[in-house]
Amino acid sequence: MSVFDIIIKNGKIITANGLFDGDLAIDSGVIACLGKSIENRADKIIDVKGKLVLPGLVDPHVHMDFEISGMANRDDFKSGSIAAAFSGITTIIDFAIQEKDRSALEAIKKRRKTADKKVVIDYSLHSCLTDGSERTLDEIKTIVNYGVPSFKLFMVYKKEGVMIDDGVLYTILEKVKSCGGLVGVHAENVAIIDYLTEKYVKEGKTNAEYHAKSRPNISEEEAIRRAVLLAKSLGASLYIFHMSTKEGLMAVKEARDNGADILAETCPHYLTLSDEMYLRPDGNNWIMSPPLRKKEDIEALWNGIIQRYVKVIGSDHSAWDSIQKSEDSFHKVMNGVGSIETSLPLMFSEGVSNGRISINTLIKVMSENAAKIFGLYPQKGTLMVGSDADIVIVDPTQERTLSCDDLHMNLDYSIYEGIKVKGFPVMTISRGNIIVENGHFQGKPGEGRFIPRKIMRKEISTNGS
Ligand code: URP
Ligand code: ZN
Repeated sequence: MSVFDIIIKNGKIITANGLFDGDLAIDSGVIACLGKSIENRADKIIDVKGKLVLPGLVDPHVHMDFEISGMANRDDFKSGSIAAAFSGITTIIDFAIQEKDRSALEAIKKRRKTADKKVVIDYSLHSCLTDGSERTLDEIKTIVNYGVPSFKLFMVYKKEGVMIDDGVLYTILEKVKSCGGLVGVHAENVAIIDYLTEKYVKEGKTNAEYHAKSRPNISEEEAIRRAVLLAKSLGASLYIFHMSTKEGLMAVKEARDNGADILAETCPHYLTLSDEMYLRPDGNNWIMSPPLRKKEDIEALWNGIIQRYVKVIGSDHSAWDSIQKSEDSFHKVMNGVGSIETSLPLMFSEGVSNGRISINTLIKVMSENAAKIFGLYPQKGTLMVGSDADIVIVDPTQERTLSCDDLHMNLDYSIYEGIKVKGFPVMTISRGNIIVENGHFQGKPGEGRFIPRKIMRKEISTNGS
C-alpha cells in the first residue's frame, strides 16, 4: 500500500541546516518526511542519484503582464510563470501599482483577477504606493491584513507618475512599520538622472552607453543612503530592490554594521554583465534601471553575497522584445530585461560551479531569505516537514549554452545568448505536482495560488542568514 504520493530517492538534499544524502517524501502537496532512507512505499519513486534536491526558488521581484505608457511587456502571468518554472522558481512576487487617485487595495484585487487564472506557480504581490494621501495611509493596515505586507516605493520615474518624494517615503515608512509591514525602494536619485539625461540628449549622445552614463553610481548610492537614513531614524526595516553598485553595497554594509535592518537585493545581470554590453549595436536590449555597471561592481556584489550583506537575488524580470527595445534614443527605451528563466542556471554556474559561493548560500539568497523577509517562511523557502512540496532538482554536471531558441520566455533574444553554464535544473515540483520534467512543461494555468503573507521580522534581522 502506498504511504506517500512521491518519494525522491538518493538525492543530495539541501536543508536550512546543510546538505545530506538521502530521500524526501511528498504527500498531499507537502513535504511529509526526510531521511537517509525512506521505505519505497509511494505512488511514484524518482531516483535522483548524483543530483541536488533544493527548495523551490522564491523570486520576489518580477513584472508580468506589466503595462506602462500604453505599452505592454511580453510575458504575462502565464508565459512568465512557465519560464520561471523552467528555472526552478516555484513562487514569484509581482507588483500591484496604485493608479493615480485610486485605491491601492483595488489595484491588488485587479492584479489578482489578471493573475489568478494564468499562474502556473504560486505567487504574491507587493503593493506599490504612488501617493501619500490620507486615504492611502488609511488603507495600509487593510492591505497588510489582506496578506500583502510589503510595499514598493519608486524614488524615480517622475514623468511616468509613480515617483514619491522624501516626505511620502518618510510617512509611509512610519505607517507601514506601525502596521507590521516592510517598505522596499527603487533607489535612484531622480534629479541627477533627469539632469544628465537631458544634457546627453541635447548633445545628441543618445546610444545605449548614455543610459549608464546618465545613471552614474552616485545616483544609486545617494538614494540608498537617503532612504536608509530615513528608515534608520524611524527604526524601520528597509528593503533595497535591485542594488547594482559597490557604493550602494558600502552604504548597506555601514548601516547593517550599525544595527539598521537594511535588506539588499541584487539581480543576476548585475552579477554577470558589465556596461560593455551597451557598446553593442543591439545595446538597447540591456537597458534596465539601474543600469549595468563596471567589473568592480560585479565583484563587490559577489563579495556582498559572501559576507551576507546582500540577502536576496531577484530576477527583476520585465520582458520587452527587440522591436519594443528599438528606439532612437536611450531615454525612450522600455526599461527592464527578460531573464527569469536563466536565473538558476546562471547563478548556479557563476556562483556554485565557479566556486564563489556554497550551494547553501545560493539557496539562502534565491529562496530562504526572500521567503523569510517577505513572510512566506516556512511554507516556502525550505525543505522541512510540513512545508509546501516546492522543489527543484538540479543536475550539477549538466553543461549547456544558453540560447533564446531553448528558452520559454516570450522574447526573440536572450541577454545571455551564447553563455556557457554548468549545472541545470531538470525537474520542478510545485506543491507536489511535477510541472517541469526534462525540458517539458506539464503544469496548468490557474494551478498557482495567491499566497497571503505575514511578516515576522525576527526571522532575518541579524546577519545570520
Ligand atoms: O528596469 C527595470 N528595472 N524595470 C523594471 C521596473 C523596475 O524598476 O523595477
Ligand atoms: Zn525598480
